[in-house]
Amino acid sequence: MRHLMSPLDFTVDELDRLLDLANDIEANPEKYAHACDGKKLATLFYEPSTRTRLSFEAAMLNLGGSVLGFSSADSSSAAKGESVSDTIRVISCYADIAAMRHPKEGAPLVAAMHSGIPVINAGDGGHQHPTQTLTDLLTIRSLKGRLGNMTIGLCGDLKFGRTVHSLINALIRYPGIRFVLISPEELRIPDYVRDDVLRRNNQEFREVIRLEEALPELDILYMTRVQRERFFNEEDYVRMKDFYVLDKAKMQLAPKDMMVLHPLPRVNEISVEVDNDPRAAYFRQAQYGVYVRMALILTLLEVNVC
Ligand code: NCD
Repeated sequence: MRHLMSPLDFTVDELDRLLDLANDIEANPEKYAHACDGKKLATLFYEPSTRTRLSFEAAMLNLGGSVLGFSSADSSSAAKGESVSDTIRVISCYADIAAMRHPKEGAPLVAAMHSGIPVINAGDGGHQHPTQTLTDLLTIRSLKGRLGNMTIGLCGDLKFGRTVHSLINALIRYPGIRFVLISPEELRIPDYVRDDVLRRNNQEFREVIRLEEALPELDILYMTRVQRERFFNEEDYVRMKDFYVLDKAKMQLAPKDMMVLHPLPRVNEISVEVDNDPRAAYFRQAQYGVYVRMALILTLLEVNVC
């Protein structure tokens, strides 16, 4: 039985196959409409989410399966003190596969160790968010036609942003990737990513503070929200929250074929006036998230559709 805790759980070849499957689902949705008839997905969300939970649910419903679950710790037995390992043992009796989001780093891994069904990490604290990474890879590959040989700017809260940590881990496996890490001093990428991932793999990267300085050289700009819920005090958050605002004027500094991605939700970091720019790809990215989660469910449940 296979789980998904990190994007590195799949080899590059396996990832290619998963993304091919997602593209086939996009092109031929009717072919997959009954692939998971009679199967159930449990969504165990101990932390708020709109996109991730609903895109998992939409993915399972699109495959003909059904969904059950909870959307906050308060509405589960966690409120009574039940451990994650007990909860997953019980859920294993009710569902065929589970997606778990938890504020504590490593909680989905603990669940996977005690589970009778495949567990998908749907975000664990400030650590990893592998299904967002699969979404990002599918978006980049579909819109740019490749995954290697590009300059990617990651901008915003690089300290607490788990989507950024996961995406860096995944992209360093492709040739010719250059990262420009754009953040205020206080929200720089954590040492465990800079030293253990980027430096250890001789990955080309530089760190800058000004978005304007990086924009002209980027193929992809990956914007992120300042992660309010992970700050220790509100004053620091208020000081940082509007550090970057991508607007029409800044977009003029960017190449004509640069794509803007954002895992969403957005707060102020991308002005709504950018939404109509053809380079704004974040809503298309949300749609790709459904296709890739459909592909992931099929892969982990070992369902083959001919
Ligand atoms: C991200 C997350 O939860 O880490 N959202 C998402 O899943 N699309 C990004 C965020 O919350 O800022």
